[in-house]
Formats: sequence, structure tokens, C-alpha cells
Amino acid sequence: MLVSLKIAATLDGKIATSSGVSKWITSPNSRRLVHRLRHEHQAILIGSETLLKDNPSLNTRGIQQGISPTKIIMDGRGRMPRQAKCLRNDESKTIWVVGRNVPKQDWETLSNLVRLTSPGVHAEISWLLPQLEKLGIQSVLVEGGAKVHASFLKSKLVDKIYLFLAPRILGDEGLSWCGALGIEKLIDTLNFKIVKTEILDPDLLLELKPIERLND
Ligand SMILES: NC(=O)c1ccc[n+]([C@@H]2O[C@H](COP(=O)([O-])OP(=O)(O)OC[C@H]3O[C@@H](n4cnc5c(N)ncnc54)[C@H](OP(=O)(O)O)[C@@H]3O)[C@@H](O)[C@H]2O)c1
Repeated sequence: MLVSLKIAATLDGKIATSSGVSKWITSPNSRRLVHRLRHEHQAILIGSETLLKDNPSLNTRGIQQGISPTKIIMDGRGRMPRQAKCLRNDESKTIWVVGRNVPKQDWETLSNLVRLTSPGVHAEISWLLPQLEKLGIQSVLVEGGAKVHASFLKSKLVDKIYLFLAPRILGDEGLSWCGALGIEKLIDTLNFKIVKTEILDPDLLLELKPIERLND
């Protein structure tokens, strides 16, 4: 399974304002490349807060014969509304990952919806990825938000990070792209190598690999 993280951040690493507004931090050039990445992965994954705040369509746009990946929503409490935009798109399915206590909804019979019930309230990444493989998914583009990025990084199952940096600064009130990792000592930081850089005028794209996976 290939796991890539995609982040669109300010120079100071923020992905949204304090009120949760994130559209648009990066430039049209960067966003075009994001659609290329979506096309190249079999699935896109987001957390419930991103779903509720942004209501994204999560499809591939602006790419000739672009394929829209399967959408995966990590929604432990089952708060995704029936009207969510990602459910409107019939061309690709949505995998709804809910906690064990979430009751069945009458709209769950939608033909493009697959429910995955995790053993706990929130799905562990180490549990989720084998479940996705069983459903035929071999590559996932994780598109946030901060808490979901932190869970993936903690799992040590991330292969690649695509960090789009816009040359602007939001300040301390903004939301950082990675949530809490519980790191107290510098010796425990997660370490990466920059394997590629690209100027996407005016943004900068950094492609990073975790040091321990450089030989993969
Ligand atoms: N600029 C960007 O690149 C970008 C991209 C995406 C999002 N954003 C912004 O980021 C903000 C949302 O980020 P966020 O950190 O607050 O929330 P988030 O990461 O989108 O969602 C977190 C929620 O997902 C659910 N969840 C289920 N399983 C989980 C797991 N294993 N690990 C972590 N979460 C899990 C939890 O809620 P339940 O208890 O409901 O399950 C959790 O509170 C929004 O403002 C959005 O606009 C920016």
C-alpha cells in the first residue's frame, strides 16, 4: 500500500485560519498538480472535521481523462450528512469509516457508499490500511486535516509527503498542518529527506520521504 500525505500550507505551516477557512491557501498552479495526484492515487482520505468544515467534492478536475479516486471519510462518530457533496458524485464510491457505536442510517443503501465499521470508536491506521487493501485499494492520498495527518505520521506507515508551501504567513492563530504527536525530545522528531523540489509559481512543492523508508 502506498500512503502519500498532501498538504497545502502557508510558509509557517498553517492549513486553515482559526475559524477553519482553508480555501485557498495555495495557487492555481499547485491546485492543478493536486488534481494530478488525485488521478494517480486510487483513493483520497480526509477526516470528519475537514468534511464538515469544507464539504469537499473530492473528485479529479481539470485533467484530461482524469480518474476520480475512491473517497474515504474517517468519521468515528458518524456525523457525515446525507447531503455531503462527496456522496453526490456517482462516478466513484465513498468508503465511510465509522466507529463501532454508530447506528445504521436509512440512506446507507446508496449504491456508491461502503461502510467500514472499526473495532473502536476511532479507526487505527494500522487496522484501516489492511481493510482498504481487502477492498482492492493499493494507494491513498491523505488530504488532511491536521489530526488525520498526525494519526498517519504516528502510525509510521507514510511513504511520501507532498508539501505545497505558499509564500504567505498566517501566524500562530492558524491551524498547523500536523496535530499532536506527543514528541517531547528533539531526538524523537520524525525525520524526512527532501527528494524533490519544484517551483509552482509562486508556491514551492517539497516532496519528502521518511528517512527510514528511503530504500523502499
Ligand atoms: N490546507 C489544507 O491542505 C487542508 C487540508 C484539509 C483540511 N484542512 C483544514 O483542516 C481543518 C480540519 O482539520 P482538523 O485537524 O480539525 O480535523 P481532521 O483531521 O479533518 O478530522 C479529525 C477528525 O477525524 C475523525 N477521525 C476518525 N478517525 C481518526 C483518526 N484515526 N485520527 C484522527 N482523526 C480521526 C475524528 O472525529 P470523530 O470523532 O468525528 O471521528 C477527528 O476529530 C479544516 O479547517 C480544514 O479546512 C486544510
